[in-house]
Amino acid sequence: MLPMIHYLFKLSPHSSISKARKSLHRSGLMEIYLIEDKEDGSRLIGGFSEKPLSLKEELPLTLIEETSSIDWTQQAKTFSPCYSEGVLKIDLTPYGVKRAAELLPGEAFGDLSHPTTELMLQLMKDQVNGKVVLDIGSGSGILTIISAMLEAKAAYGVEIDQTALEHSHKNLSLNNLQHVYFYSPEAVPLITPDLILCNMISSEQEVAYTYYPHFQNVTTIITSGVLKTEQEAYLSSCKQKGWNVVHWAEKEGWMGFIFER
Ligand SMILES: C[S@@+](CC[C@H](N)C(=O)[O-])C[C@H]1O[C@@H](n2cnc3c(N)ncnc32)[C@H](O)[C@@H]1O
Repeated sequence: MLPMIHYLFKLSPHSSISKARKSLHRSGLMEIYLIEDKEDGSRLIGGFSEKPLSLKEELPLTLIEETSSIDWTQQAKTFSPCYSEGVLKIDLTPYGVKRAAELLPGEAFGDLSHPTTELMLQLMKDQVNGKVVLDIGSGSGILTIISAMLEAKAAYGVEIDQTALEHSHKNLSLNNLQHVYFYSPEAVPLITPDLILCNMISSEQEVAYTYYPHFQNVTTIITSGVLKTEQEAYLSSCKQKGWNVVHWAEKEGWMGFIFER
């Protein structure tokens, strides 16, 4: 992996998070992630670049961190309890799967270190068997890969970030699975999924909902990435889309939902 520079910015209050995200993406920032602090309401945007970032326009952002050359293997060795001989071995016995999922260390989101990934797994474990699954915002590929291990008929992941997409392909080849596919948004086929998985913050979910026609005929949708403090507004917008909550779960201030249409 090329040495990467990690950037973390603080976004000014009341400014548009999706506008800043798009602009940073245009400037070359990859693997963009968002952190919303539920205590003080601050919003951080982070990401990675192979070369020093030169912003193409004025943005309401304050740079709070710039770190070079993250060694992801070293990070995993130091911080992850599931690191073993170059890979992260994710124990899936709590989700009813005997074999472990293997993931390469890397910056793509989705190694079970964030509560929203765990919420997704909890909610999806009894929903996947025999289904065609579309995982929107597949990151490292973790949910798509585990869908196949939970005996999905087929599992499709779609990811906007090219580096994460490449990472998910590598993770797929580690796990020796059939009927698992990863695509960029413009290439994803117009399949008819039985189940959509979508772990993204609510503003990204809105963008995804308008972009992907797959939402129109699906019966079950599982989402996370929503803070408990924003659940009222979120659920009201889901209701307008005709999504009815049938189950929910909470972990560390984050919510996950199963919806049916
Ligand atoms: C919170 S991560 C989730 C990763 C993984 N699915 C998990 O649950 O751990 C959200 C991912 O969605 C991706 N993303 C954001 N908007 C997207 C879009 N419109 N289409 C596809 N991917 C998107 C981001 O690049 C990021 O990798």
